[in-house]
Amino acid sequence: MHCVKCGEKAAINMRQHKLALCPHHFLDWIPEQVERSIKRYHMFTKEERLLLAVSGGKDSLSLWDILLHLGYTVDGLYIELGIDGGIDYSARSLEYARVFAQEHNLNLLVQDIRHEYGETIPELTARTHRGRYKPCSVCGLTKRHVMNQIAVTNGYTVLLTGHNLDDEAAILFGNTLSWVGSYIVRQGPVLEADRTGLGRKVKPLCRLYEREMAAYALLRGIAYMEDECPFAVGSTSIYYKELLNKLESDRSGAKLSFYLSFLQAKRNGLFSDKVDDRAEQIHPCPKCEQPTSAPGLCAFCRMFANPDEQSQSLQLEP
Ligand code: AMP
Ligand code: FES
Ligand code: ZN
Ligand code: ZN
Repeated sequence: MHCVKCGEKAAINMRQHKLALCPHHFLDWIPEQVERSIKRYHMFTKEERLLLAVSGGKDSLSLWDILLHLGYTVDGLYIELGIDGGIDYSARSLEYARVFAQEHNLNLLVQDIRHEYGETIPELTARTHRGRYKPCSVCGLTKRHVMNQIAVTNGYTVLLTGHNLDDEAAILFGNTLSWVGSYIVRQGPVLEADRTGLGRKVKPLCRLYEREMAAYALLRGIAYMEDECPFAVGSTSIYYKELLNKLESDRSGAKLSFYLSFLQAKRNGLFSDKVDDRAEQIHPCPKCEQPTSAPGLCAFCRMFANPDEQSQSLQLEP
């Protein structure tokens, strides 16, 4: 297989684009694609204050690298969840984020959950669910809450995450299986700021496959946390990703087209009569002041205030 641009040996063949590229041309191509998504979906400009949620994994660190390359100034935020799982998961992930930030002279904010709220994610899960459930829903809720809070209180106008196409397709697939209308309507490359102070959230890697991001990190020599979160093993999101990969291997481009056709359908008005039912009811949480559609305290503050009332349904929010 040869690079379509220069004829050198290809490093990657992207069947869905009928495009094989050598390392050099691939490393040009990825930032071009990201820049296109930033423009196409009106994500942000160079003048805005940007905060990237960095997990220490390949997607968010590669995104940081790409944005630097494109000339954006972006600070990082690492949320220390206190997950050990026998592999020192959170501490090692933080180390990768730190090293990257130091090497590139970047600002990394670190929010330590135990320090801030008195308990790690596994401790909080054990207390609120008495150990019966995996921490993933508690963790997801906490991450969303903390990301918004830090972004808003520090004056960042846009929050970026490293969600790639595989993540987005799996979330969409999960939400479609259960037809969670309000999440489906809101899913997309950009979640606009709402009046109650939630900043804009964007996913610049939403059109790039996970394997492309892995290839990018490898070819750029980015050191990243390769282990998955120990609690993610056996999770539905991983199961959906595997299913979609099976589909992709028989029909290249299936994942991309699933996601892009959804965005197109949305633009064509498929959901236009489905009002975002959250929008109507949004009010600031009396405790943390973050927007919520729940009556009274937001889900995050409720979790700390009255553990037994914590809802056990896990929905994959955009
Ligand atoms: P995940 O939910 O693990 O698939 O991660 C999706 C995105 O959320 C990552 O690309 C990061 O942008 C962000 N993220 C995940 N975990 C953390 C963390 N501990 N601290 C900061 N950002 C995170
Ligand atoms: Fe949150 Fe695994 S990263 S439970
Ligand atoms: Zn080439
Ligand atoms: Zn709250």
